[in-house]
Amino acid sequence: SVTRAGQAADDSYMDLCFPGYSTAQNEVTGPKTKSGPELGSLTVQCNYTSGWKTHRKYWCRGADWRDCKILVSTTGSEQEVKRDRVSIRDDQENLTFMVTMEDLRRDDADIYWCGIERVGSDHGFPVDVSIDPGKSELIPERPSQRAASLFSSTYFLILVFLEVPLLLGMLSAILWVDRPQRCPGRRRSPPDEN
Ligand SMILES: *[C@@H]1O[C@H](CO)[C@@H](O)[C@H](O)[C@H]1NC(C)=O
Ligand SMILES: *[C@@H]1O[C@H](CO)[C@@H](O)[C@H](O)[C@H]1NC(C)=O
Repeated sequence: SVTRAGQAADDSYMDLCFPGYSTAQNEVTGPKTKSGPELGSLTVQCNYTSGWKTHRKYWCRGADWRDCKILVSTTGSEQEVKRDRVSIRDDQENLTFMVTMEDLRRDDADIYWCGIERVGSDHGFPVDVSIDPGKSELIPERPSQRAASLFSSTYFLILVFLEVPLLLGMLSAILWVDRPQRCPGRRRSPPDEN
């Protein structure tokens, strides 16, 4: 967002040195870490203090707070907003907003931020999101591998005992048809003999 990217000149010393969670009061907090299963979903709860009820809340990706990419943000209301696989909903009575990430992929693992937009520099809290690899990758699928190798060996047998003789038969038939042209008495006349 424009307001967040342009670090205003009136930022305090603390803001410059510890951007995002500079203010001592922890205006916005969330879990330090959160994990979810590959292909599953995870929900992060971010809490904030009462001053920020009607401010835009957002979910931002990237370890560098000043440079993170906003994936989804509220409109400043309690209306849920969904974009791609990420949704956000603000509960202004309970001073909390929920971010849900769905259809998780391994490369979703990253630092994300619970963010609140404000004039000057925004408030943010970093959440280290990790993805638990799906079970299908951890346990080798032996039955289907066996089925695959059975299939390929069956195919190999068909290839050897059916298709190879068939191809040889076709090849000899072609050679047979070709044969008369190679007879010595029937040479073609040289081309273009004016
Ligand atoms: C946010 O608030 C809820 C309810 O008060 C609480 O259960 C949760 O632990 C809080 N989360 C954080 C990160 O403070
Ligand atoms: C907000 O908190 C109240 C109780 O304090 C609870 O009944 C309600 O379910 C909460 N709202 C949400 C969306 O969790």
